[in-house]
Amino acid sequence: MFDQLFQPMDLGGQTLPNRMVLPPLTRSRAGDNGVPTPLMAEYYRQRSGAGLVISEGTVVSPQGASYARVPGLYSEHQVQGWRPVVAAAKSQGAAVYAQLWHVGRQAHSSVQPDGGKPCAPSAIAITGWQYRSPQGRVPFEEPRELSIHGIREIVEQFAVAGRNAMAAGFDGVELHAANGYLFDQFLNSSSNRRTDQYGGSVENRLRFLNEVIDAVSSHMPANRIGVRISPSSTWMDVFDPDKRALYCALVRSISPRGLAYLHLVEPGIAGAVDSADHAEPITSSELGALFDGPVIVTGGHTPRTAAATIGSGEADLVGFGRLFISNPDLPLRVRLGAELAGLRPEGLYGGGPKGYTDYPALQTAN
Ligand SMILES: Cc1cc2nc3c(=O)[nH]c(=O)nc-3n(C[C@H](O)[C@H](O)[C@H](O)COP(=O)(O)O)c2cc1C
Repeated sequence: MFDQLFQPMDLGGQTLPNRMVLPPLTRSRAGDNGVPTPLMAEYYRQRSGAGLVISEGTVVSPQGASYARVPGLYSEHQVQGWRPVVAAAKSQGAAVYAQLWHVGRQAHSSVQPDGGKPCAPSAIAITGWQYRSPQGRVPFEEPRELSIHGIREIVEQFAVAGRNAMAAGFDGVELHAANGYLFDQFLNSSSNRRTDQYGGSVENRLRFLNEVIDAVSSHMPANRIGVRISPSSTWMDVFDPDKRALYCALVRSISPRGLAYLHLVEPGIAGAVDSADHAEPITSSELGALFDGPVIVTGGHTPRTAAATIGSGEADLVGFGRLFISNPDLPLRVRLGAELAGLRPEGLYGGGPKGYTDYPALQTAN
C-alpha cells in the first residue's frame, strides 16, 4: 500500500529507507539537567522504522528552555546521554537529526537559571496565551531585549549545540524556526521592533537565522542542516502584515545554501494541535516550489494524503506527529494496510512509560 511512501531517497548523502518522518515531538522525559534517559532510547527505538527521525526540541542553553524535562545539547553529560538514544533511533537505518531549540520569550523567569526575565528580540510580551508553570497558568512576562552581544552569544550556543549533536552521533540538525519560538520572534514584526541590523527590513529580520546557519555550518556540511518553519501560524502572537512576503523571502534566502531540507508545518496547525485560527494560509506547495532541495511537510497528514502529496511532487517527505506517538511501528502498519491506533491523552508531556512507550507494536497489539 502507498508505494510512494516507500521509495528510498537521498538526504544529505544518506539513503533514507522510506519517506515517512518522525517529526520533532516534545515528550518531557529527560532526566535532571536535560540529560536523555534510557526510557527515551526505548521510545526512539520503537519509532526507528521512520526514514528520517527528528529529535524532540532540544535546547541550546538553560535560558532557551521553558518546559520541564526537555533535553539539551550544551553539556558533555547531555552528549553522553544522547549517544545510546541516537544509536537506538538509527537501529533500522533512519537518518537521525537533532532539533535545536531556543524558546526566547516563551520562557518564564521561574525557569530561568538566574531567575531573570526571558530574552527576545524586543521587550514585547506574548498576549492571549498563558505560560504553563508548575503552579498553574500565569501570564507571559515582558522579556528583556537582547543586546547585540547577547545575540552573538546565542548564535555561538547554536554552533556549540551543532558540534555536540555530531559528537552524540546525530547525522545532522534541524533549526526550530517554527511555532513562535526565538527564530520566529526575530522573523515576525509583531515580536521584533528592533532598529538595528536585526530588525526593520525583512532582510534584517532574516539575519539571525542566516547567522546561525553560518555558525552551525562550521561544524557540519550545510547539507546536514535543515530548517523548520510554520508560515501560516500565528500561535504565540507571531504576526506580520505580510507573512507571505516574509516566508517567501526566507525560503529564497536559504534556498541557495545547499541545506539538507526545508520542513514546512502545514496551515491549520497551532503548535501541537489543530486550529482554524491562523493567518491566511500559505500553502506548502507554494513555498516548497521556491526551495532548491528536499521538502518535508508535517501537519494533519494521513498515509493517504501523504502518498498523494509525494506522488504529486509537492513534497519529498511527510511527517506524522500524533500518528507516530500512538503507532510506534507506523511504517510497518502502513505497508501492511493495518489499522492505526488513536492517541490517548495521558502522558503526552512528562511522566513515565505510560502514554510514551506503552503503545503496542503490531505484533503485540490486541
Ligand atoms: C506532543 C507534541 C509535542 C510536540 N513537540 C514539538 C517540538 O518539540 N518541536 C516542534 O517543532 N514541533 C513539535 N510538535 C509539533 C509536531 O511536530 C507537528 O508539527 C504537529 O503535531 C502536527 O503534525 P501531526 O498532525 O502529524 O500531529 C509537537 C506536537 C505534539 C503533538
